[in-house]
Amino acid sequence: MRNFDENNITAAVLERLRGAKSARVRQVSEALVRHLHDFIREVEPTFEEWESGVKFLTGVGKKCTENRQEFILLSDTLGASMLVDAINHRLPEGATETTVLGPFYVERAPSLPLGADISTGMPGERLFIEGSVSAGPGKPVPGAIIDVWHSDKDGYYDVQHYDEGGEVALRARFVCDPDGRFWLWTIVPSFYPIPDDGPVGDMLRAQGRHPYRPAHVHFMISAPGFETLVTHVFIDGDKYLDSDVVFGVKDSLIQKLERRPAGTLVHGRAVDHPYAEMRYDFVLAPARRDRAKAAR
Ligand code: BEZ
Ligand code: FE
Repeated sequence: MRNFDENNITAAVLERLRGAKSARVRQVSEALVRHLHDFIREVEPTFEEWESGVKFLTGVGKKCTENRQEFILLSDTLGASMLVDAINHRLPEGATETTVLGPFYVERAPSLPLGADISTGMPGERLFIEGSVSAGPGKPVPGAIIDVWHSDKDGYYDVQHYDEGGEVALRARFVCDPDGRFWLWTIVPSFYPIPDDGPVGDMLRAQGRHPYRPAHVHFMISAPGFETLVTHVFIDGDKYLDSDVVFGVKDSLIQKLERRPAGTLVHGRAVDHPYAEMRYDFVLAPARRDRAKAAR
């Protein structure tokens, strides 16, 4: 077939996809072509605009390094990450809600004992984080593994300093006690701009948007037989809770920090400084396979 024009080219491309060996590849390719062609028909880009789009995506790719993932930032800031998250986490009632993983998760964080201080002596308001992991009321999950990571008091993650020789900080992995409880010391994180010195930052500025995320602590919690939970706890009162640049905030994940004076007892010991306290009781959802079985 020849003589393609704006009326017949979409059908012609779709026809070419019929030989795909995988039904899923065909489905995804067809949807991509349909939506891309519809986008072009709606926008009617000039050649210059199309070229700047190509340059933008090229720039996104070039900005990616071992410690910087510009495509994740693009997906996050366009709300695509949260949409994928929502579709993949239609969780049972009562399970803790999920939110974006973000680009600052590190797979091999140091394993530390419960009660450890992950601040590595950084300045900032002291923060005690305590909570539990369960499968619902009266069903603790002993031995659940909790990865915790967050920004410093100026809004930077340790990985953002790795290129200048920075060390691991404000992240660790803990194992819950036999009652499914966990606790640790750190410092209060700040709200922060996502890295905006690349094409995604240019895009945000062009769209008239700020690059900020409200202050939060990341948690990834896993245990055999349960869905791995990827979420944050947001700090109540943050000025960016209603305009998170990556659309990640959910009411159920916002917690107020309680301020405690020096001398407060923590696990039977008086703490010799004032501090803030964050509590969160996480509820895990059964693994998808088990949920499907229960529904049969
Ligand atoms: C984060 O919370 O670490 C994050 C999430 C999405 C984009 C940038 C940072
Ligand atoms: Fe974060």
